[in-house]
Amino acid sequence: MGKGKAGEGKFVILVSEKLVGPGELVEGEWRNARARARAHPSLPNLPLLSGPCSGAPFHTHSHAPSLPLPPPHTSSPPLPLCPGMKLLEEFGTVDVALGLTPEQLCEKVKTSDALIIRSATQVTDDVFKASAGRLKVVGRAGVGVDNVDLGSATQHGCLVVNAPTANTVAAAEHGIALLASLARNVAQADASMKAGKWDRNTYVGVSMVGKTLAIIGFGKVGSEVGRRAKGLGFVVIAYDPYASEAKAAAVGVRLVPLDEALATADFFSLHMPMTPDTKGLFGTAAFAKMKKGARIVNVARGGVIDDDALAAALDNGTVAGAALDVFVKEPPPADHPLINRPDVIVTPHLGASTHEAQEDVGVEIAEAVIEALQGKLAATAVNAPMMSPEVLAELAPYTTLAQVIRGGGMSESGIWMDRTRASFFSLPLSRFFRGANEDTHFSFIPVPA
Ligand SMILES: NC(=O)c1ccc[n+]([C@@H]2O[C@H](COP(=O)([O-])OP(=O)(O)OC[C@H]3O[C@@H](n4cnc5c(N)ncnc54)[C@H](O)[C@@H]3O)[C@@H](O)[C@H]2O)c1
Repeated sequence: MGKGKAGEGKFVILVSEKLVGPGELVEGEWRNARARARAHPSLPNLPLLSGPCSGAPFHTHSHAPSLPLPPPHTSSPPLPLCPGMKLLEEFGTVDVALGLTPEQLCEKVKTSDALIIRSATQVTDDVFKASAGRLKVVGRAGVGVDNVDLGSATQHGCLVVNAPTANTVAAAEHGIALLASLARNVAQADASMKAGKWDRNTYVGVSMVGKTLAIIGFGKVGSEVGRRAKGLGFVVIAYDPYASEAKAAAVGVRLVPLDEALATADFFSLHMPMTPDTKGLFGTAAFAKMKKGARIVNVARGGVIDDDALAAALDNGTVAGAALDVFVKEPPPADHPLINRPDVIVTPHLGASTHEAQEDVGVEIAEAVIEALQGKLAATAVNAPMMSPEVLAELAPYTTLAQVIRGGGMSESGIWMDRTRASFFSLPLSRFFRGANEDTHFSFIPVPA
């Protein structure tokens, strides 16, 4: 429950879903979580907060701090103090209200400057209307923002921020775990032994040293997988039409065309987003170009592999094994063509599931919300940062460019574009796109003169 002193001009931050679950952290663990967050270059670089923070008032919302505080919420049990909650409590008045009905949420946002959610809270147009302009930022502790009405948020001058980087290392580590399990039949051998067998012949594996690993999608997760795979002795190549040669070279990875990756790799690790271009990218045509006996890991999104085509490629021996963490429909149906096969390892979307990643998501979202309330350009803004007329003028030439790029365009409210094209823009637009996911709609909210 909020420890901030009521009525002292602090922002009110409504937390409608648990930020983290592992339990009370001791001070050392809290510092570790902050250090992990700091180690990621794309996280905002806020100073460590050692006491109540008197951040600059939000520049378009000068009345917010003096508005009435919400009535105390008594139904939710106190949350364990996690790093993200600790940051929030040092900054403002935190109102933890779990399990709100839509009506209760509408009531609560009338007295809240910020709302922090995970995936269960639906932040609809009604919520923004009910807040009548007081709500200045919605923070989604995670990546997907399907449960937030972004258009309505923008219309009501509310920033939506997410936490896109905190699970990067967790996803990369899971990718590596699946690669190694696939090479050495760990899951199958485990199941066999538990079934009472001692079978040392069936589960002879393949070595990773000297094998070629193709990373498809050399972004945050893909590049971390590349770094780690090199340590395991893989020769790492990558296909990513938008990645920079310099970034790949820095990791010691060679960027190659897709056909070259398909023809030469022994292992594939998929880390691209789900877009019209990547949907079913690993289908019949791609499998036909692969080296016989390749192995494939998917920790990205279910739809980037065509399941029936993969089943066929496993049947005809083109693919020797697959490891899948993600599925088109989750959980997958019982008659899924891949999950019951002995040559396929499956995990239930565990890529981001480490205690550390969950804590880090809490820290990342707390920092983004605090930045937004301080009137700073939040690095992980999903809909739009508030912008000064000067910045808007600087960006104007790019709107024309966005119009001619596929997947992009311009409307009365601003620019939108396919996130995957964003790397064509370096500064100043890159700041918007850094935190974007595949369905992001970008709009500009001009600061009133
Ligand atoms: N399993 C999990 O729990 C888990 C956890 C984190 C991320 N993910 C998923 O992993 C994927 C990668 O996440 P990220 O954080 O690295 O994203 P990212 O945006 O940092 O990287 C994605 C990369 O894919 C590239 N790309 C775009 N279109 C491509 C194409 N047609 N072919 C090849 N590359 C293409 C982009 O240029 C970018 O470099 C996403 O789909 C994300 O949803 C899953």
